[in-house]
Amino acid sequence: MQARPVESRMAIRTVLRMGHPLLQQVAAPVERLGTPELRELVADMDDTMRALNGAGIAAPQIGVSLRVVMFEITRNPRYPQAEPVPYTVLVNPVLEPLGEERDEAWEGCLSVPGLRGVVERHSQVRYRGFDPEGRPIDRTVAGFHARVVQHEVDHLDGILYPMRVTDMRRFGFEDELFPDPGTLPPD
Ligand code: NI
Repeated sequence: MQARPVESRMAIRTVLRMGHPLLQQVAAPVERLGTPELRELVADMDDTMRALNGAGIAAPQIGVSLRVVMFEITRNPRYPQAEPVPYTVLVNPVLEPLGEERDEAWEGCLSVPGLRGVVERHSQVRYRGFDPEGRPIDRTVAGFHARVVQHEVDHLDGILYPMRVTDMRRFGFEDELFPDPGTLPPD
């Protein structure tokens, strides 16, 4: 994505929290790519995700029921065990699980603040979609990259990660689960 013009102001939006009905809706596809409206939505998602130190965000979380997600993991001392994931904005994503392998890991979510839970996900997925300007994206990924894209695309189908937690003993408040600094998994 291009850098934002210096004169544009930050737009940190309110993140809806679990329980808001919009988070349970199936979001609509984006019909036109490369529009000023889509760029503005992406910029607001970007500002909001960064302000809250999230690893990803989906448009419904800021109250826009459209199929747009973004994610990024940089090397972060808060999450020393997380492998980097390139900054990606994905419009109208389609996910295809590859193989039968699944694995478990801790997840968090900006819409479920202060909590973490273990979720089982496909280990490897292929995802396709478009960037905001309409250029196609087609990637086969594994590990944390595969996990974050599955988590974000779930948001577009009205699914929050606690709905996928199968062992409620491994779902709780992050400061109880991870009292040692540096052990908190990314959200
Ligand atoms: Ni989330």
